[in-house]
Amino acid sequence: MIELVDLVKSYDGKLNVVDGLNMHIERGELVVLIGKSGSGKSTTLRMINRLIGITEGDILIDGESIQNQNPIKLRRKIGYVIQKIGMIPHMTVGQNIELIPQLEGWSASERKKRAKELLELVDLPPKDYYNRYPAELSGGQQQRIGVARALAVNPEIILMDEPFSALDPITRDQLQQEILKLQDELHKTIVFVTHDMDEALKIADRIAVLKDGEIIQYDTPEKILKNPVNDYVREFVGNHRLWQSPEFLYAKDIMRTNPTLIGQKRSPAQVIEMLKSSDTYVGYVVDTESKPKNQLKGEISMAQLKKVSSHDQKMSQIMNKDISYVYEHTNMIEVLSIMQSQNYKRVPVLNRDNCVVGYINRSCILNVINEVIPDVDYEETVPAKEGV
Ligand SMILES: Nc1ncnc2c1ncn2[C@@H]1O[C@H](COP(=O)(O)OP(=O)(O)OP(=O)(O)O)[C@@H](O)[C@H]1O
Ligand SMILES: [Mg+2]
Repeated sequence: MIELVDLVKSYDGKLNVVDGLNMHIERGELVVLIGKSGSGKSTTLRMINRLIGITEGDILIDGESIQNQNPIKLRRKIGYVIQKIGMIPHMTVGQNIELIPQLEGWSASERKKRAKELLELVDLPPKDYYNRYPAELSGGQQQRIGVARALAVNPEIILMDEPFSALDPITRDQLQQEILKLQDELHKTIVFVTHDMDEALKIADRIAVLKDGEIIQYDTPEKILKNPVNDYVREFVGNHRLWQSPEFLYAKDIMRTNPTLIGQKRSPAQVIEMLKSSDTYVGYVVDTESKPKNQLKGEISMAQLKKVSSHDQKMSQIMNKDISYVYEHTNMIEVLSIMQSQNYKRVPVLNRDNCVVGYINRSCILNVINEVIPDVDYEETVPAKEGV
């Protein structure tokens, strides 16, 4: 839908403030541009609606270069919301929202209907707000009007340049939710500039990290969190971030991949030998003949084996069948809640076919905490070998 092709901006032929950007933004996608001050975010955004000219390269919307389009008409097709939205002070909220529809030649009744619809959409009841003046609104309410106004003529594209950065965290959160709702319900294509990674992670389908006018990484929030390409991106992400976004952290990311797998027909003596050389003194009894192989049947620990009276018994008779497990893609929030119900002992990790591929124990959890919060003093709580 929007394509930036080898996009360059320089002022007076000096340094390129945007330096060969290539970017593809899908219809209905919410893309966030993030980067330090001066990295070229606003410049890039403002080239999309031709508020500033392109030095080299091109921007295509639906395959058509914007340079062949009348800038005024183009801008009416693209909503634009900035930090301090410019409302005309002597016009009411309703008149402010209706300004562009009026320029587009809409009738008075159409305009009024639309303005009221939009006020509802941004959660400002028209009966209370339609006739107010901008000076009678809080900062957060003004930003809501800014969003409503940007949507007035139902543009496909909305550009937002740090629209919420002057707001308190609660109002900001509410407006972020509104934007997500808009995108869900109206499928707008949104390009959103911020330098706040929390905000980016919350709302973005994809995040482009900019530095000195170049894209350093353009990826989903999850990939940015998990695989930052260099220190600049890593600095933005911050150490603690993965832990703070546990919905992006899965069992497979933290599990140990060397579970001791035990066939159902093994004798206790054999299993004792197998467990002696394992990390945990706990093994998973699996069906070695299932297709695919190694579907989970139960769990056996050294402690249980030591209590066995007859060495003729098979694992299927001794093992503990009533065990909790997680899947590779179970996220950390659920993993933690399941582990908590097990008193953080350990759970096997299964793939989609119910085959055991790993396990998670207390030290896996502590490792993640240690990795993402390096200062945690956890030594005292590291458990000894389990199951003994
Ligand atoms: N009219 C201009 N003439 C010369 N240089 C300019 C002009 N406008 C912007 N710049 C320079 O272009 C670079 C990129 O600016 P831009 O506004 O795109 O940064 P930004 O990433 O939006 O930063 P911020 O987070 O502070 O808003 C900056 O170094 C800025 O000084
Ligand atoms: Mg800027």
